[in-house]
Amino acid sequence: MYLFKKISTLIRFLESYRNKNRPIGFVPTMGALHEGHLSLVRQSLEATQCTVCSIFVNPTQFNEASDLEKYPRTPAKDLTMLYKAGCDVVFMPAPEEVYPPGLDTSVNIGFAGLDHPMEGRFRPGHFQGVAQVVKRLLDIVEPDKLLMGQKDYQQFLIVRHMARVLSLPTEVVMAPTVREKNGLAMSSRNQRLSPEQRELAAALRQTLQKAAKWIRKYPPREVEQKAIQALRQYPGIEPEYFQLADGATLQPAPDYENPDSIVACAAIWIGGVRLIDNMILKG
Ligand code: PAF
Repeated sequence: MYLFKKISTLIRFLESYRNKNRPIGFVPTMGALHEGHLSLVRQSLEATQCTVCSIFVNPTQFNEASDLEKYPRTPAKDLTMLYKAGCDVVFMPAPEEVYPPGLDTSVNIGFAGLDHPMEGRFRPGHFQGVAQVVKRLLDIVEPDKLLMGQKDYQQFLIVRHMARVLSLPTEVVMAPTVREKNGLAMSSRNQRLSPEQRELAAALRQTLQKAAKWIRKYPPREVEQKAIQALRQYPGIEPEYFQLADGATLQPAPDYENPDSIVACAAIWIGGVRLIDNMILKG
């Protein structure tokens, strides 16, 4: 496994693959890796000939300084995990390498409203920061495939939209969410939960599963209300949103017939830790 910290040496290394038309897969991460990230790495290893994983805690996507500060950082453990998974290349740049003074890295495109609801509403500016860093990393790595997890469904749609609008030569691939035994979606933020809180957090997935049943009986807005009420029953959980969205536009699903796909997306707080999850209900 090769570790690069500088853009210039990474680009030089990847040139040999590009010159031989050997496909490159890319898994961007903010570190504190877990099995979910490794499943993306494995999927990339199967589909391409060189897998690059980046570890970079991107300051521009945090809308709260305290969240950035508290974000778990475990670089030594991350490198061991990637080495064991068979990852080919790790890119671990410093912030000045990604955002050198004087370089305009802003992404000036519209997101067709995908950035307005749900995460966009509660984390203003977050997706602008995600698009900025992903575009910057894609410009550096120029991968054939970009692998992203379903847990961040809205992020996936926004990045795929960006790739389309900017005609980037990269296929954006969504991989299934990897879960703990109790159903909790794996997330770097889970490291900040106590064992009791981790058990409690399983309620998020369970409520999504309940919603999947309720849609047989109740219209979308009623299912959302029932889910919020159900989550509030758990002492220690504060639900932020629960939305049945059109899986393509992320607008509230008006009914179950018209949208081709429907996804239930939710965010909750447990003791200062914010968790998100989703379930595709149709399509
Ligand atoms: O999903 C994440 O971990 C981040 O948003 C990403 C895509 C690595 C960009 O910083």
